Amino acid sequence: KTMPTSVAPTPPVDGLPVERSDPFDPPAVLAALREERPISRLRYPDGSLGWLVTSYPLARAVLADRRFSRRRELQRPPRRIAFEEEHPGPSEPGFFIGMDPPEHTRYRRQLTSHFTVRRMRDLEDRIARITAEHLDAMERRGSPADLVAEFALPIPSLVICELLGVPYTDREKFQHDTRVLLHLESSFEEAMGALVSLREYLHRLVVRKRAEPADDLISTLIAGGALDDEEIAGIAVLLLIAGHETTANMLGLGTFALLRHSDQLAALRADPSLVENAVEELLRYLTIVHIGPTRAALEDVELDGELVRAGEVVSLSLPAANRDPERFGNPDELDLRRSATGHLAFGHGIHQCLGQQLARIEMRTGFNALLSRFPDLRLAVEPEDVQLRTDMAIYGVHSLPVAW
Ligand code: HEM
Repeated sequence: KTMPTSVAPTPPVDGLPVERSDPFDPPAVLAALREERPISRLRYPDGSLGWLVTSYPLARAVLADRRFSRRRELQRPPRRIAFEEEHPGPSEPGFFIGMDPPEHTRYRRQLTSHFTVRRMRDLEDRIARITAEHLDAMERRGSPADLVAEFALPIPSLVICELLGVPYTDREKFQHDTRVLLHLESSFEEAMGALVSLREYLHRLVVRKRAEPADDLISTLIAGGALDDEEIAGIAVLLLIAGHETTANMLGLGTFALLRHSDQLAALRADPSLVENAVEELLRYLTIVHIGPTRAALEDVELDGELVRAGEVVSLSLPAANRDPERFGNPDELDLRRSATGHLAFGHGIHQCLGQQLARIEMRTGFNALLSRFPDLRLAVEPEDVQLRTDMAIYGVHSLPVAW
């Protein structure tokens, strides 16, 4: 009984491409691949041969398919990522993004109720206040300013700190560690050092909160009694990293995109109620998770006529999937009025972003407050001089000099 072995039409892509010719468009080679086939051969940095999915329906199907595993030890990074070994070990306790059910379910169940739409709505006033305070400070310091340092990074960072119960005064430490961790050019030793240091920092905090509980998520998880300190520390590391780097880059890159699409910017200024729709479209158009996610086949699976063998790793290009013309008309156009729902910027399936409701509220509040505060906000440098994060695991801008 022989399965059909397929012959890929083109030589394998050598490592997932991340270099861009336009700050907002995914690497052009991804669209070229998708036009040819929704799934292509990809050579992983460890030399193994796997797959790259570039179409919307196939990416979504793989993310929903339980024959594909998220277990960390089965993955291969599709290009060098400092914190991912070429042959990774199993996830640390609590770091459930690298686990399958039933372990994944056990952790996620402890958290779901804390991230519902309703819970996040309760945070809305607080988020609005934090946003206003940062805009006050930025205005006081005067034009020009770096929007990333003054606005995009501190707001989500402060919000996730308050939610978890992490002292924001320690931000230099964890923002630095996160940067080292997510920098593609960091050495493996540097990245591991940063990860260990973050984990130890949060473990000490969990131990302290066990003795002196407060009104925060870490204390609530301790009180729940289902998880030990090491597991809670692992969860806290995951939430702290995911909670500030991602939204921060959507705010920074999103503002850059709005400033470069003046008709869209004018439409949002004219009608702030457009913001809910605008945020979904910015998520689709910018898709900042540009490396991975990956899944490993647990058995032989046929995908669009190709045979993915058990053990092979499949990379889903979320930026390419979200620009699939079969799913979104005129995909390369930023159109804040289109319906972008169903986009894959938060992933799909059981690992779909836990923090998406929080991120949405931070972005809606952030964009509207920023635009109403500064009616003539503009770039303070030439657009070509904005430093893009092609060298980071999460795409965005390193800084965004603005004037008003
Ligand atoms: C998972 C994107 C904000 C926490 C994910 C995944 C994506 C993503 C694509 C799926 C990864 C996979 O399938 O392997 C984003 C984007 C954000 C954002 C674009 C901002 C705009 C946040 C925030 C938090 C958060 C604010 C925390 C409060 C998580 C967690 C997971 C996750 C814990 C793992 C879920 C699981 O494995 O079950 N995110 N995220 N994210 N995100 Fe987010």
